Amino acid sequence: MSSKKKKIDAEVAHVEPSPEIDVEELEGVGRVTGAKLKERGYYTVRDVAFASSKELAEVIGNEERAQQIIDMARKMLGLYSFISALEVYEKRKRVRRIPTGVRSLDELLGGGIETRAVTEIVGEFGSGKTQLCHQLTVMVQLPEDRGGLGARAIYIDTENTFRPERVMQIARARGLDPDQALQNILYAKAYSSDHQMVLVEQTKSVIKQQNIALLVVDSVIAHFRSEFPGRENLAERQQKLNKHVADLLRLADAYDVAVVITNQVMAQPDVFFGNPLRPAGGNILAHGATYRLWLRKSKENIRIAKIFDSPHHPEGEVSFRITEEGLVD
Ligand code: GTP
Ligand code: MG
Repeated sequence: MSSKKKKIDAEVAHVEPSPEIDVEELEGVGRVTGAKLKERGYYTVRDVAFASSKELAEVIGNEERAQQIIDMARKMLGLYSFISALEVYEKRKRVRRIPTGVRSLDELLGGGIETRAVTEIVGEFGSGKTQLCHQLTVMVQLPEDRGGLGARAIYIDTENTFRPERVMQIARARGLDPDQALQNILYAKAYSSDHQMVLVEQTKSVIKQQNIALLVVDSVIAHFRSEFPGRENLAERQQKLNKHVADLLRLADAYDVAVVITNQVMAQPDVFFGNPLRPAGGNILAHGATYRLWLRKSKENIRIAKIFDSPHHPEGEVSFRITEEGLVD
């Protein structure tokens, strides 16, 4: 055991103990496992409830079973919706990043688009949202030694703007076989908001089997806006959108995939100073997305990207160009 670990244990020892229940009281923990656990310092249900699956796996040999025992211990203590901050930290370390192909943008994003998070791309028509989505479906495929994840992508298209030819161009520019690149993207067209939600549900069964690390929904909002027009339908629309975004967040977290959604902008008639545009979807998307990236048109093929509303990214802007080869610095 490292000295750092010992120090943490020593600090934990100062915490007021809850009623102690012998670790062997846990369902499925018999004499043998119980003895092993006690030998390593896990005497009570509480000791197990505060352990991480990784450290417990060292005792009982298997991370999945360790997690089951931890879950049972937490249930017994009424803690089942909590995890320790150390686990949060360990989970954060397991986050993977998909490079965007634009170095300055990757720097702005702290390395790329994260798995276990929902990244929203907002911007006016022609600002490059769909182009960035196309590029990511290629970048995720790059082998790990070239910064990618060596994984595949799912593309849910609601606006009929997915272009395989464009993917092929970008793949070629990145040294990938264009046909192979297309084969590594699973595509579905969503015909309505309901269909879009069903498709997301269906991705669950393929994500693990097919080594999927990226799920694109382009755009997340178009069907919702056209099916629920006007103020009178707003509450219903937002309720449904809320469920959709919550589903996407859960999926990202549970399956270790990067979810990338695009969003449109709306003009606010009552703004006289500053930016009259704001993202559609209101609070639901503002609170639902983990990261929000705003794209803006500059002259010709130049675009400007800015992160807004991020829990830990610095504010800042970077620019890139949209070219034949995709997005470049
Ligand atoms: P909406 O979906 O309409 O809201 O827009 P968007 O933000 O998705 O825009 P999109 O990503 O479709 O960007 C379109 C821009 O990319 C246009 O300005 C095109 O000129 C540019 N573009 C698309 N394909 C190519 C290409 O092959 N070469 C170059 N140089 N530019 C391209
Ligand atoms: Mg688009």
